[in-house]
Amino acid sequence: MNTRTTIFFWLTTIAVVLVSVIVSLHSSHSFGSSISTSLGSNHRIFELEFLGEAARKLGVEDVVISILETVVYRRHHHHHHHHPHRRGNESSCSDSLWKSDLISLYNISVVYTVDTKGCANFSSVQNAIDALPDFSHSWTLIILDSGTYREKVVVSSNKTNLIVQGQGYLNTAIAWNDTANSTGGTSYSSTFATFAPRFVAYNISFMNTAPAPDPGEVGGQAVALRVSGDQSAFYGCGFYGAQDTLNDDQGRHYYKECYIQGSIDFIFGNGRSLFEDCTINSTAKKYRLVGSADASRLMEEIQPTIKRASPSTVLFGEYECYGPGANSTYRVAYGKQLKQSEAAHYLDASFIDGEEWLVSASTNSLDFLDSPGRSNRSYST
Ligand SMILES: *[C@@H]1O[C@H](CO)[C@@H](O)[C@H](O)[C@H]1NC(C)=O
Ligand SMILES: *[C@@H]1O[C@H](CO)[C@@H](O)[C@H](O)[C@H]1NC(C)=O
Ligand SMILES: *[C@@H]1O[C@H](CO)[C@@H](O)[C@H](O)[C@H]1NC(C)=O
Ligand SMILES: *[C@@H]1O[C@H](CO)[C@@H](O)[C@H](O)[C@H]1NC(C)=O
Ligand SMILES: *[C@@H]1O[C@H](CO)[C@@H](O)[C@H](O)[C@H]1NC(C)=O
Ligand SMILES: *[C@@H]1O[C@H](CO)[C@@H](O)[C@H](O)[C@H]1NC(C)=O
Ligand SMILES: *[C@@H]1O[C@H](CO)[C@@H](O)[C@H](O)[C@H]1NC(C)=O
Ligand SMILES: *[C@@H]1O[C@H](CO)[C@@H](O)[C@H](O)[C@H]1NC(C)=O
Ligand SMILES: *[C@@H]1O[C@H](CO)[C@@H](O)[C@H](O)[C@H]1NC(C)=O
Ligand SMILES: *[C@@H]1O[C@H](CO)[C@@H](O)[C@H](O)[C@H]1NC(C)=O
Repeated sequence: MNTRTTIFFWLTTIAVVLVSVIVSLHSSHSFGSSISTSLGSNHRIFELEFLGEAARKLGVEDVVISILETVVYRRHHHHHHHHPHRRGNESSCSDSLWKSDLISLYNISVVYTVDTKGCANFSSVQNAIDALPDFSHSWTLIILDSGTYREKVVVSSNKTNLIVQGQGYLNTAIAWNDTANSTGGTSYSSTFATFAPRFVAYNISFMNTAPAPDPGEVGGQAVALRVSGDQSAFYGCGFYGAQDTLNDDQGRHYYKECYIQGSIDFIFGNGRSLFEDCTINSTAKKYRLVGSADASRLMEEIQPTIKRASPSTVLFGEYECYGPGANSTYRVAYGKQLKQSEAAHYLDASFIDGEEWLVSASTNSLDFLDSPGRSNRSYST
């Protein structure tokens, strides 16, 4: 759509949703970390703030969401060291695949490549990550060729400043199929987990291919991506799963033009995050229609979750919602229609201090970074 003025932009906005949850736990044991399951304990104090708003229509509806929560986490993983190697079949390999605009944009110091054909430095994503320098102060890059990489991957907290780049979220995926049952807890079920500050991903999908559990079935939580590091950004990425797809665990995160699919509780965690121009697809069979995200299903998704929290510590806000389900007549009693001045704080990168850490790129149209704060924005798309 053409958006010539800010006013026009906001009028065409259909739904921005922002969830803020602060969870304090004083028990240190592992727990199921979806909002619903973590509400059962008396030991936990909740402050869940939810604000709503925005999605604009571009054929599919794009939804802007922000989520803020705090969760105690624990991790464990095994670490192995591997060394990069040269490609195995020179004759059918092309180096042009490994050229990337990111190398100059981020002034990248180390580049490793991964593919499934033997043309790259590695055939395993985890092996490439393990070979990176620890505590890097400069950006490092791992480029993945098209294909599905069947492995469970962890970016430990000492692999700082890592960028992972795929060939489009429909072409490159990292997939595994662990569940809460198979791993001993939702937070361990992730296909890809990142604990490092300043992790960035471009044009790649994270998938959990475990089958969707039946309604009411326990142990079927299956996280595709867990983001537990601060200052992490995802551009043009896909997150595919059923229950508990995206664990937006901790830290300040930015999601731009991403696709997020799941059935229940599929975006959760304690992160302080801005979701911009993202598509959210609820695939729940029982209560909801299947299709692209719209305000109606978003609200069906969110309201019961918040109901299980404590309404007295929740701010459920909406701003300029539009489309099916935007009618606020049947909202929970504590739902609030926000004024522009109340919503503004949640609607741009200043909410996640993005002006301090997001790397601006003309290719990403992060134009608002040139004028951080609450200034009005226009979009070029
Ligand atoms: C190298 O690639 C060519 C073309 O794909 C193939 O015919 C050949 O068997 C490959 N050689 C090795 C050693 O993998
Ligand atoms: C790029 O990084 C290198 C170290 O990897 C550093 O020496 C150089 O000054 C950096 N250049 C810019 C323009 O930041
Ligand atoms: C990775 O592979 C490229 C060729 O694709 C090669 O030029 C480079 O030296 C390799 N890097 C390492 C660390 O082996
Ligand atoms: C990096 O993290 C891994 C996993 O936590 C750990 O085994 C390793 O010792 C760490 N390396 C350094 C240099 O701290
Ligand atoms: C994951 O997939 C493999 C291969 O299909 C299967 O053997 C395994 O049981 C699955 N794991 C889970 C937890 O579903
Ligand atoms: C990501 O994909 C988009 C759309 O195809 C493309 O314009 C952009 O250059 C890609 N970015 C990177 C870093 O690969
Ligand atoms: C998880 O395990 C429990 C107990 O063994 C079982 O009742 C449940 O059906 C399992 N869930 C899934 C999704 O396999
Ligand atoms: C949402 O998911 C369903 C089921 O996987 C799929 O058929 C549909 O195309 C998806 N919608 C979008 C907008 O991708
Ligand atoms: C919202 O729903 C109520 C009850 O169905 C209806 O009376 C009202 O006209 C609707 N408002 C809009 C703006 O559609
Ligand atoms: C944003 O646009 C609105 C409506 O035109 C205007 O009232 C407001 O002052 C603008 N804010 C800024 C920071 O320019």
